[in-house]
Amino acid sequence: MEFIDEKLDEYVCAHSEKEPELLYELNRETHINVLLPRMLSGHFQGRVLSMISHMIKPKCVLEIGTYTGYSALCFAEGLAEGGKIITIDKNEELEDLVQNFVEKAGLSDSISCVIGDAMEIIPTLEEEFDMVFIDADKYNYINYYNMVFGKLKKGGFILIDNVLWSGKVLEPAKQNDKDTEVLIEFNDLIHNDERVQEVLLPIRDGLMLVRKK
Ligand SMILES: C[S@@+](CC[C@H](N)C(=O)[O-])C[C@H]1O[C@@H](n2cnc3c(N)ncnc32)[C@H](O)[C@@H]1O
Repeated sequence: MEFIDEKLDEYVCAHSEKEPELLYELNRETHINVLLPRMLSGHFQGRVLSMISHMIKPKCVLEIGTYTGYSALCFAEGLAEGGKIITIDKNEELEDLVQNFVEKAGLSDSISCVIGDAMEIIPTLEEEFDMVFIDADKYNYINYYNMVFGKLKKGGFILIDNVLWSGKVLEPAKQNDKDTEVLIEFNDLIHNDERVQEVLLPIRDGLMLVRKK
């Protein structure tokens, strides 16, 4: 789903920071060798994530949904000195590719990749996070939100991707479309949660920014 006209979209990308060389390489490799490359954040959204990270300067980031590591590398650009990112993905087949790019970026000490089901891993984490990125299975978005909330510092941020779900959130979910049903419920839940300030940015497939008051 495009939110702006294709030409304007091209203009926006052309007037946003160029995709860094290593991310360009990862983007390309993902498109050539990995299933579902559309899942990768990509040039424009990646620059947005990097900018947000620079604004927050997080010390500790949790990412749910590593995929090929593109967004983790973007967040790493804005980390506070000595900061770290824990990124979780259940797909062990991508582990070598991600590690390879993390090493190439010289970020082995800052990015820790955990392989497994985020639903099982999150409760075992003892860190306090200043930024969380939710970008895995939509079915568990509400569960992830509830699980990470207590681990988020006051004043911390949660970013949630794909909340517009290609526009499907506008209509009641079709029967058996559990993901859309959860996303509609999720967006309402955030909007009515008095503990947070929220803004839904119409970037790519919808990026919700949440600040814990
Ligand atoms: C949209 S992709 C993440 C894209 C990545 N954040 C980026 O921007 O480049 C979603 C990822 O979530 C992972 N995933 C789905 N369900 C999961 C679960 N229950 N636990 C951990 N990872 C999961 C998938 O394997 C997939 O790699």
